[in-house]
Amino acid sequence: MMRKKIIAGNWKMNMTPTAAVELTNTLKPLVANEEVDVVFCVPAIDIIPVVKACEGTNIQVGAENMYFEESGAYTGEISPEMLTDAGVKYVVLGHSERREYFGETNEDVNKKVLKAFEHNITPIMCCGETLDQREQGITMDFIRQQVKVGFLNVTVDQAKTAIIAYEPIWAIGTGKTATADQAEEVCKGIRDCIAEIYDRDTAEQIRIQYGGSVNGKNAAELFAQPDIDGGLVGGASLKEDFGEIVHW
Ligand code: G3P
Repeated sequence: MMRKKIIAGNWKMNMTPTAAVELTNTLKPLVANEEVDVVFCVPAIDIIPVVKACEGTNIQVGAENMYFEESGAYTGEISPEMLTDAGVKYVVLGHSERREYFGETNEDVNKKVLKAFEHNITPIMCCGETLDQREQGITMDFIRQQVKVGFLNVTVDQAKTAIIAYEPIWAIGTGKTATADQAEEVCKGIRDCIAEIYDRDTAEQIRIQYGGSVNGKNAAELFAQPDIDGGLVGGASLKEDFGEIVHW
């Protein structure tokens, strides 16, 4: 099964709307590559100007979070319909920073995943272990639980189109990348978990990204692994280096 690679930038809480448009214009020619899916996941306030700046390019725009209710008294939240109306195609859900600083649980992430599918937004569902969990040897148990709960009630057809991002927490923003073998081992484990929940065909179709200090230098080795279908890139997505990653 030849899965199309998907390289997504996660800008996190960086870039004012003005800076976001400048960065988009700088990156546009550098990320032109029809052979891969290229996504910029940007802060909510940057979505509209970035969608506009990406018109006529191969870049799709994603959000970094979304609420699981349709509308109403949820001060400060962004609804799925707001995102689709603004032109969003993807949403990062359950990033470790949201789990750690904003108390998101696997159950919250599951509600968001289901809601995203309902609105035809492709979820990029993040999972990943802490250093402590890795050292205790419970990495895969922890991640399997994140995936199993995250995908509760997701249909088989929906699951085939989902993206899972494996981001070991100890490799995020630390410059300490997982080795290609370490990343592959867990991405393969995630694929096997999807095969258990659904079937092998679904597992072969779902795309699994690696995230955690991906840069222009280490992308090639990571993306050459059989179960790694691209990357979710933080720091390097804010720089010209992102072009190198897209053309690994
Ligand atoms: O979502 C991407 C991310 O958490 C990885 O960040 O800066 O290590 O590439 P970074």
